[in-house]
Amino acid sequence: MSLKRLVRPEILDLPTINVPEALPEMIRLNANESPTSHWNDALNHSLHRYPPIRPYSIVKIIADLFEVQCDQILLSRGSTEAIDIIIRTFCNPNKDQIIISPPTFDMYKFFATSNCIKTIEIPIHGDNEFNINVKDLIKKLTDRTKIIFISSPNNPTGTSVSNDDIKYLLDAVKGRAIVVVDEAYIEFSSTKSLTREINNYNNLIILRTLSKAFSLAGIRCGAMISSSECSELLKKILPPFCFATPVIQFIKSALLSKDLQATKKQIEFLIKERERVKNELEKINCVNKIWKSDGNFLLVKFRNIDTVKNSLIDANVVVGLLKYPSLSDCARITIGTRDQNNELIEVLDNLN
Ligand SMILES: Cc1ncc(COP(=O)(O)O)c(C=O)c1O
Repeated sequence: MSLKRLVRPEILDLPTINVPEALPEMIRLNANESPTSHWNDALNHSLHRYPPIRPYSIVKIIADLFEVQCDQILLSRGSTEAIDIIIRTFCNPNKDQIIISPPTFDMYKFFATSNCIKTIEIPIHGDNEFNINVKDLIKKLTDRTKIIFISSPNNPTGTSVSNDDIKYLLDAVKGRAIVVVDEAYIEFSSTKSLTREINNYNNLIILRTLSKAFSLAGIRCGAMISSSECSELLKKILPPFCFATPVIQFIKSALLSKDLQATKKQIEFLIKERERVKNELEKINCVNKIWKSDGNFLLVKFRNIDTVKNSLIDANVVVGLLKYPSLSDCARITIGTRDQNNELIEVLDNLN
């Protein structure tokens, strides 16, 4: 079934902003730019010119990286921006709803609320290892549900949903809702990315990012991967000129360099280190429980979170404190360098 039924009518009627990239031999008198630059631009980025409307020169590189076709990927300023774009493409303000399973990444609800969209919450629980039961999500679907967001691995719990469960969900809601699978941490998981399924499900959107495993959080680059039909719709409200010229140049040179071998090594290191830190923390008295994690972080429950908080502040160690009442005695701890992790372990061990 066509996705046109699910899209906001205003979006369907919007023209897609699309202008060919300027060629060096062109005399460019079309965009009200300054003809020259008087700034010291050592890297020769021609910053008096607008960047391309869409950063096509990096689309192919990132499409290859994620093993998809160019017409199945749209780049955004981090996957955070993608969440807003997806909600605004499909959800009618003051009418539609999204479904999430908290505790989860808080930007789904943030952008839903800021776009006047109601969030239906189906909580997951620590005593059930934070597993999502997709049948519970399906039961909650109404005529107003437009998007189901699943973070897998989930921030902050580290749990993954199996690909079979997600495919079951996609089949069950086909023609009725979009399923967004946020794979921000997929590189740290043994579960395979669902990107190979985009030709089978036009209601699947996968979010990927360069912020985590690729060590490029500062560059702000994320990707929405979906069927070309879905990409065409999302593209309509993708802001123009949103990637700055130095960012495009940096991504190009970083991803075409040999640094991807270093990325692979870093991922292997962080996965090993995650298990080492988990084993070490489990021996410490102030730690009550640590959940299995498929991300680059651990969700740790403490016997007395206030004592832990104060000791970490004194030691200048910052961890993620969580606003969910069910996680009020927990912290989300990112896996750092070996030295940083040892420092954390030592501070917590000294509390015994
Ligand atoms: C599940 C999840 N999705 C998306 C993001 C945002 O990533 P980006 O840096 O690409 O905006 C985060 C960041 O922590 C996250 O945890």
